[in-house]
Amino acid sequence: MFQFPIWVNSLIKLSLVAIPVGGLYGIFLLATATAPETTHIGYAPKQPVRFSHRLHAGQLKMDCRYCHNTVETTAHASIPPTATCINCHSPADGNGAVSLTAIHAASPDLAEVHRSWADDTPVKWKRVHDLPDFVQFDHSAHVARGVSCVSCHDRVDQMDVVSQNHTLSMKSCLECHRNPDPHLRPLDKVTDMDWVAPKSRLEMGALIKDHMNIKANQNCSTCHY
Ligand code: HEC
Ligand code: HEC
Ligand code: HEC
Ligand code: HEC
Ligand code: HEC
Repeated sequence: MFQFPIWVNSLIKLSLVAIPVGGLYGIFLLATATAPETTHIGYAPKQPVRFSHRLHAGQLKMDCRYCHNTVETTAHASIPPTATCINCHSPADGNGAVSLTAIHAASPDLAEVHRSWADDTPVKWKRVHDLPDFVQFDHSAHVARGVSCVSCHDRVDQMDVVSQNHTLSMKSCLECHRNPDPHLRPLDKVTDMDWVAPKSRLEMGALIKDHMNIKANQNCSTCHY
């Protein structure tokens, strides 16, 4: 008759401990992988300044790249420095005179911007979209290929407070990487939030013919170090 070797007993004892602990570890991983900062739809932290994209990008029609000026060339889109705001929101000078570029100079909503300018310390904007550190993302790879901000960030130009409206799960990345064509548009329309694709596939094909049929990479090493 077959007999289990004696060490199996201790293996069973170990597994009594290991399985629940492993389970907890699994739950911990799940909890961290789906932390609000990465995949939670609707995450919209309160910002230190009541800055509105709906006003600046929507009503005033400022291009996204006026402020996020590295989005086409580097991995990061970059949050604008206070100097960018000061182009239009310079503080009133000491004599009480207000220059043309001092829009709403006395507004309490701009006090933090003026403080930051005076102290030469950045406004502490809170991150909205944040992938875990083991994922690498590159804005330029997408934007320079005709993937619009809208595909991943939704209608930011209609938001008073930016919220995360799309999940940043691995599944969502891969869904597009498998078949990116329907998400591509002419390169000069990537920041045009109102752009709608022409109904006819032929017409669409002609618009993006120079950068369609892209094979977006699905190798693990594309997104994981
Ligand atoms: C006048 C400057 C300005 C313009 C124009 C602008 N943004 Fe922003 N953007 C900011 C600032 C400041 C923040 C940080 C505060 C916040 O989240 O509202 C920000 C934050 C964001 C975030 C969230 C970043 C994060 O932490 O995850 C996204 C996404 C974004 N902008 C997209 C856009 C898009 C898309 C456009 C064009 C439709 C645009 N922005 C136009 C200044 C600007
Ligand atoms: C190209 C010019 C321009 C730039 C650059 C700009 N803004 Fe504005 N901003 C405006 C205008 C114009 C208004 C006022 C619109 C109105 O009242 O109708 C405004 C209004 C505001 C208000 C509302 C003030 C109030 O009392 O109603 C805030 C807050 C604000 N901007 C913050 C910022 C921040 C922060 C930045 C930099 C990230 C920035 N703006 C960059 C033009 C600009
Ligand atoms: C393919 C999806 C995708 C597209 C397209 C995209 N973004 Fe993002 N964006 C992300 C992800 C993912 C993050 C979080 C990156 C991280 O945590 O490393 C992010 C973060 C940001 C941030 C925060 C700063 C940073 O770089 O981490 C800003 C600002 C931003 N995006 C603006 C834009 C603008 C403006 C456009 C269009 C010109 C755009 N994004 C296009 C997915 C996208
Ligand atoms: C809406 C479509 C879409 C979504 C969503 C998307 N991607 Fe992409 N991704 C692309 C396209 C198109 C390319 C360009 C492929 C090329 O140049 O051959 C690309 C390229 C990349 C590259 C550069 C690969 C290289 O070979 O240089 C990385 C890294 C990347 N994506 C990561 C991500 C991550 C991480 C996510 C999810 C948070 C994501 N992508 C979501 C369409 C998308
Ligand atoms: C297009 C980009 C992309 C590719 C390709 C990709 N991943 Fe991911 N992966 C992600 C993103 C984004 C996350 C983070 C998702 C989140 O926070 O929920 C992730 C998370 C993970 C996690 C953690 C999951 C969890 O729930 O904790 C593992 C493990 C993983 N990826 C393995 C892989 C393997 C193995 C491959 C190759 C077969 C791969 N990934 C290919 C983007 C990618």
